[in-house]
Amino acid sequence: MSNNLLKGKRGIITGALDENSIAWKVAQKAHEQGASFVLTNAPIAMRMGEINKLADSTGSKIIPADATIIPDIEKLYSESMQHLGGKIDFVLHSIGMSVNIRKNIPYTELNYDFFNKGIDVSAMSFHKMLAVAHKMDAINDWGSVVALTYIAAQRAYPFYTDMADIKAMLESIARTFGYHYGMQKKVRINTVSQSPTRTTAGSGIKGFNEFYEFADKQSPLGNASAEDCANYCISLFSDLTRMVTMQNLMHDGGYSSTGVSQSQLDALMK
Ligand SMILES: NC(=O)c1ccc[n+]([C@@H]2O[C@H](COP(=O)([O-])OP(=O)(O)OC[C@H]3O[C@@H](n4cnc5c(N)ncnc54)[C@H](O)[C@@H]3O)[C@@H](O)[C@H]2O)c1
Repeated sequence: MSNNLLKGKRGIITGALDENSIAWKVAQKAHEQGASFVLTNAPIAMRMGEINKLADSTGSKIIPADATIIPDIEKLYSESMQHLGGKIDFVLHSIGMSVNIRKNIPYTELNYDFFNKGIDVSAMSFHKMLAVAHKMDAINDWGSVVALTYIAAQRAYPFYTDMADIKAMLESIARTFGYHYGMQKKVRINTVSQSPTRTTAGSGIKGFNEFYEFADKQSPLGNASAEDCANYCISLFSDLTRMVTMQNLMHDGGYSSTGVSQSQLDALMK
C-alpha cells in the first residue's frame, strides 16, 4: 500500500545483497512510497548479480562503492546527485561484516587484524559516509540517515563477539555525528536496533537459528521481520518523524524490555 510518504525524495540505499537483505526490503518499500534512489554495494558483492533484479524492479541505478574507501563514497554521492537531479534526502547504511565471526573465533581470542577490518567495514564506514556527505553538502536540510544495529551493543551476547563492540561504536557515531549535522544542517541520524533476521550476515553467526527461535519466544510480538524493519526505516526517512534524531531505536517486538517470557520458563519447567 502506498501513501506516497517519500514522494519527491531522493535516496541512497547500501547493502542489498539478495532478496533476504534488510536493505532489499527497504528499497522495495521506498519505491512503493514514491522515492527515487540509487542502490550501492561493494564491487565484490555485485558479482552475484542479484542486485540487478532489484534495480530493474525499482527503476533504480546501481553505483558500486566500497564503503571503506573515501574516493568511492565521493563518487557515490556526486553520481547519485547527478543521476537523481539534486541533493539526497535519505541514506540507509546496511553494512556489516566480521571476519572473527565468520571464522568462529571466540571473543577472548580475537584476531586484531580481523577486528580492525570489522570496525572499518561495519562502523567507520558509517562515519566516512557521513563525513563525505557533510563535506560535499550532499544531504538536504531535514534529510534522514539510518544505520542498522543490534542489541549486543548494550548487553552481552557471546556469539556476537567483536560485532558487539563495533555496533556500540556505530551507535555512538549516530549520536555524535547527529549532534553536529543536526546543529549545522538539521540532518537527522538514527540507528535501528533490529531483531535477529535470516539474512546472509545474520546466518553467518554460529547458533543463529537456535537464537532466532529464543528471541522469537522472548518477544511479546515475536521477532520483527526484515519487511517490518523496512517499514520502520521508511517512517524514519519520512517527514512524519522529522524531530527524531541521535536515537538508538529498538525494533524488536518488545524483546529489549522483556526480562523473561512465560513460554521460555514453561520450556525449562518441562
Ligand atoms: N540479520 C540480522 O539478524 C541483523 C540484526 C540486526 C542488525 N543487522 C544489521 O543489518 C545490516 C544489514 O545486514 P543484513 O542482515 O541485511 O545482511 P546482508 O548480508 O544481506 O547485508 C550486509 C551487506 O553489507 C555489504 N557490505 C559488506 N562489506 C561492504 C563494504 N566494504 N562496502 C559496502 N558494502 C559492504 C554486503 O555486501 C551486504 O550487502 C547490518 O549492519 C547488520 O549488522 C542484522
